[in-house]
Amino acid sequence: MDTIGILGAGAMGSGIAQVAAAHGHNVIVCDNLTPALSKSGKNIQACLKTLVDKGKISDADAYSLYSRIRYTDHMSDFKDCSLVIEAIVEDVEPKQIAFKSLEAILGNDTIIASNTSSLSISAMGAPLKHPERILGIHFFNPAPLMRLVEIIPAIQTHQKYIEQARALIDSWGKTTVLAQDTPGFIVNRVARPYYGEALRILEEGIADPATVDWAMRELGGFRMGPFELMDFIGNDINYTVTEQVFTAFYYDPRYKPSLIQKRLMDAHYFGRKSGRGFYDYTEGAVQPEPLRDETLGRTILQRILVMLINEAAEAANLRIASRDDIELAMTQGVNYPKGLLRWADEIGIRQVVDTLDALHNVYLDPRYRCSPLLRRMAAEGKTFF
Ligand SMILES: NC(=O)c1ccc[n+]([C@@H]2O[C@H](COP(=O)([O-])OP(=O)(O)OC[C@H]3O[C@@H](n4cnc5c(N)ncnc54)[C@H](O)[C@@H]3O)[C@@H](O)[C@H]2O)c1
Repeated sequence: MDTIGILGAGAMGSGIAQVAAAHGHNVIVCDNLTPALSKSGKNIQACLKTLVDKGKISDADAYSLYSRIRYTDHMSDFKDCSLVIEAIVEDVEPKQIAFKSLEAILGNDTIIASNTSSLSISAMGAPLKHPERILGIHFFNPAPLMRLVEIIPAIQTHQKYIEQARALIDSWGKTTVLAQDTPGFIVNRVARPYYGEALRILEEGIADPATVDWAMRELGGFRMGPFELMDFIGNDINYTVTEQVFTAFYYDPRYKPSLIQKRLMDAHYFGRKSGRGFYDYTEGAVQPEPLRDETLGRTILQRILVMLINEAAEAANLRIASRDDIELAMTQGVNYPKGLLRWADEIGIRQVVDTLDALHNVYLDPRYRCSPLLRRMAAEGKTFF
């Protein structure tokens, strides 16, 4: 594949363009807003300068990488591309319109991919004459740094395009995993309890954000606690994804959003980017100290962890992805300290089931229902690995 087209010059489009150009492709980046094009150019140049300053690439390599990227506001410039990756606004309708316009420009064999985080790829292909060449290619932010890429075939996608796309993205040094076209794919589905259960713990007054974050970091080995991570992602973005996943799963209580986070979003307490979120980021603000109570910390960790394991097990049960791809997705997509299914083996499947059942007995909420796969495995004494 020689020339790669990127539609949308925002954070993701720019990052993907940089990765493709770094692997020798000519890249055409198209955006309907001219300022977005110049901003993308400046951001990529700043990123390359950092790499040169750190000695990771030479000046000459940075220059030739950047010279392979061309900016345009005319989609028609994509006509010779063998792959176009769309990274525009997260909404099915504009994506469908863009896909239809792309189809009128591109050859029938050109792969059209979406970088959507959770929307239906099959819906995006519905208006096309040749939907067999569409698929999801989901990079994580920042695309040049994050290794994981989820490959999501739509129900219309032909096998040869899946293989071509996967081989290409693998050749860019990424780790690809295959996911079914279901809301949130692997990572944005399996990670939901990390936020959702932490928010329930806060709502019930069991612990404050600083204590939950401390427990997950210090006792669980996670790089960031759930509240600092929500502030980092942005409470607006994190809440919206949760709400989309909740709606798309027919209001399954497992994915129910939290009013605490909704109120933060309402107040524009988005997190780091707005200076206020669960924490105060204004200059001189004093950060709250966690209650370093190990018994409480272990209870918090166990509750969030079994909910994550349950979600991962249910994804395996419903064949959303293979066991190994679920493990890769969570360790490389969101840097979890261990694969969740391996972690389940370590804790003991019976122990995971008992903890979920105990929560279910207290709350009588189907949110805590145990995956039938875990229950079967516990009865048969099986392990994931
Ligand atoms: N930001 C993330 O962390 C992240 C991670 C993974 C996937 N995604 C997904 O990637 C996509 C892009 O996200 P982003 O964060 O880069 O968004 P962004 O808002 O930074 O950029 C989107 C760009 O698309 C342009 N655009 C909108 N409609 C267009 C059209 N019809 N034609 C051409 N350009 C158009 C906008 O002008 C803007 O520059 C979304 O689907 C998002 O869900 C985002």
